[in-house]
Amino acid sequence: HARGRALRPRRPDLQAPQPARHRASLTRRPAPRLAGATPCPHKRAMTDTETLPRTGAGAPKRLFIKTYGCQMNVYDSERMADVLRPLGYAQTETVEDAAGGILNTCHIREKAAEKVYSELGKLRILKEQKSGAMTIAVAGCVAQAEGEEIMRRQPAVDLVVGPQAYHQLPELLTRTARARGERIGADFAPVDKFDALPKARGIQGVTAFLTVQEGCDKFCTFCVVPYTRGAEWSRPVAAILDEARALADQGVREITLLGQNVNAYHGAGDGGDWSLARLIWALNDIDGLERIRFTTSHPNDMSDDLIAAHGECAKLMPYLHLPVQSGSDRILKRMNRKHTAEEYLRLIERIRAARPDILISGDFIVGFPEETERDFEDTLDLIRAVNYGQAFSFKYSSRPGTPAAERPLVDEAEASDRLHRLQALINEQARGVMDGMVGREIGVLFEKPGRMEGQMAGKSDYLHAVHVKAEGIAPGDLRRVRITEAGPNSLAGALV
Ligand code: 5AD
Ligand code: SF4
Repeated sequence: HARGRALRPRRPDLQAPQPARHRASLTRRPAPRLAGATPCPHKRAMTDTETLPRTGAGAPKRLFIKTYGCQMNVYDSERMADVLRPLGYAQTETVEDAAGGILNTCHIREKAAEKVYSELGKLRILKEQKSGAMTIAVAGCVAQAEGEEIMRRQPAVDLVVGPQAYHQLPELLTRTARARGERIGADFAPVDKFDALPKARGIQGVTAFLTVQEGCDKFCTFCVVPYTRGAEWSRPVAAILDEARALADQGVREITLLGQNVNAYHGAGDGGDWSLARLIWALNDIDGLERIRFTTSHPNDMSDDLIAAHGECAKLMPYLHLPVQSGSDRILKRMNRKHTAEEYLRLIERIRAARPDILISGDFIVGFPEETERDFEDTLDLIRAVNYGQAFSFKYSSRPGTPAAERPLVDEAEASDRLHRLQALINEQARGVMDGMVGREIGVLFEKPGRMEGQMAGKSDYLHAVHVKAEGIAPGDLRRVRITEAGPNSLAGALV
């Protein structure tokens, strides 16, 4: 059994920067442990033998899954549905008829985490109306970070299951309706999860996410991910290629490789560890698979082979999400980003030299502790220098237990004002990039009928939504389209 082979040795230089007075609400998940060495901790936790309420002999039990946060959570929710399907759980969009409800949660900002508690309040009322005949589970990063607090704040919750324990869900759901006060899954290694999840995926549609890497060793001082998702870990190459081939056989034409630090990928393959670029080249050979994307990348892991692949690999799309967070060297240092604004700009130049038309996307945080107007203007300057096709921007949200949470906050009104100014600039740039598509001939992967009669909708190589009015286009068709118009949120064009 090849468990653990792909685990990266823990690097002693990768230490979480400690805040002066550590609030200790976040603890780093221990380094991945080899399965089989110790008994499964949740087995000891399951003292409650209540069984899951049945809805009638043979009747499918309805499962409601609500997903918050990032694309990896979308992938994880699909895998939870896959693992529960053999138990007779069929997914439902309406929570009212559900025998089980799972909230797959996000902990990245305070607002995201708080949404979970208000949704749980609604589920509690529903559960009472059903006289308790409903199992409520909280999964994802809030489960990992706030397990005990969830059980305390919302007693209607039956299960709290962290991101590395989803393969345990069938057992947990059937054998217990309440693992009292126990946080399940905190100590599992991703290798256990990926080995145990079903190989077949109940995927619908022509695009799919595929997780290749989990966790983060970067410890940006604002971020909870190194604590909620644990240490960086890469799936072995063979498992990824198998999953990709199976997806292509099911009609998937575009795969987005996911990882919190996807370009730090270093999974075990033939001849040793493979880089993300090498993995992409292998995926490029899969028949039926037409497009490859990946997200999210860190500037310091943009290796030469990955930059070159953007110029040379036909199926790798000309779109790169490369967050920089700030354009001020002073703030970048305090964020522990380990690069300067200038280094980021030089990197973008090298990427554009390899693939001149690439669309660059980013993430920004405004109002990071002690950010001055001058720091913020440096960020606007960097944005002007890059010209983003898209970007996500957030007001800094203090996360207890992270180093930055100990530092003085920027005035709320000032932070809001900066966010509006930054978003106005990004919107202007995104608008310009979309307008620049008019007259160009580009690839579009069609996904579904559009809103208007006779229309088909899809995504361009650059990830813009595109509508085309034409007969005979089916979902999954990849066609050349001449763009004729740029609307507020989408492009329109005609088949070439
Ligand atoms: N506050 C605001 N935004 C954050 N992000 C991560 N942590 C925080 C935080 N504490 C943003 C970063 C990251 C994106 C996924 O979320 O920009 O790239
Ligand atoms: Fe949210 Fe980050 Fe967790 Fe994704 S990894 S669910 S964005 S906290």
